Amino acid sequence: MIARLRQGLRALFAWARPVDMALAASILSPSLRVLFRQMRRSEQQHSLNVLRMLRGWGYDDPSLLTAALLHDVGKSRYPFYLWDRTIVVLVKAAAPKLAKRLGHGKPTGLRRPFAISFQHPQWSAEMVAAAGADPLAVALIEAHQRPPTPNPSPVKREGLPETNFSLSLRLRGGKGGDRGVEATTDTSQSDFDLLLTALQAADDAN
Ligand SMILES: [Fe+2]
Repeated sequence: MIARLRQGLRALFAWARPVDMALAASILSPSLRVLFRQMRRSEQQHSLNVLRMLRGWGYDDPSLLTAALLHDVGKSRYPFYLWDRTIVVLVKAAAPKLAKRLGHGKPTGLRRPFAISFQHPQWSAEMVAAAGADPLAVALIEAHQRPPTPNPSPVKREGLPETNFSLSLRLRGGKGGDRGVEATTDTSQSDFDLLLTALQAADDAN
């Protein structure tokens, strides 16, 4: 919850920080860049931070980096103000069942912020698929908010900046390794879970 509130604070000052469009453009195809540009400035910055963190851990898989940049693009479908996010964070913490119930309706009225929070992974996945993203990027985006798979690999989700966490990410998913992943069909479940775990961890940390 603290991380989410910190995200909100960062969003307040998003106007003061530049957006590295060149970095986004180096990963995304022209049609995916259009989606990136329609995101809010604070979300562009968040996504670039997720991307930088994954790269810092040694990940260079294009599908994962695409997912890092566009996992939240579905939030741009509807207004989603800072106070909306704050309410969602607080209700999720105080009454998670109520938040979930509100999150499964149509994104109108009081339900709108909750619907955005719970349903945006699906919307993001639809949008990037329609814009030609590869199936692995689409699948990672669709799953980015699902509860973590219990211990999908030697990587533990907790204890984020621990050395062995970063090290195992680098060994398993890193550049130049022999476990490169290009498409869902070539991706074993454990590789997928590993990429998803990395995406979720970087998302949570930013
Ligand atoms: Fe998200």
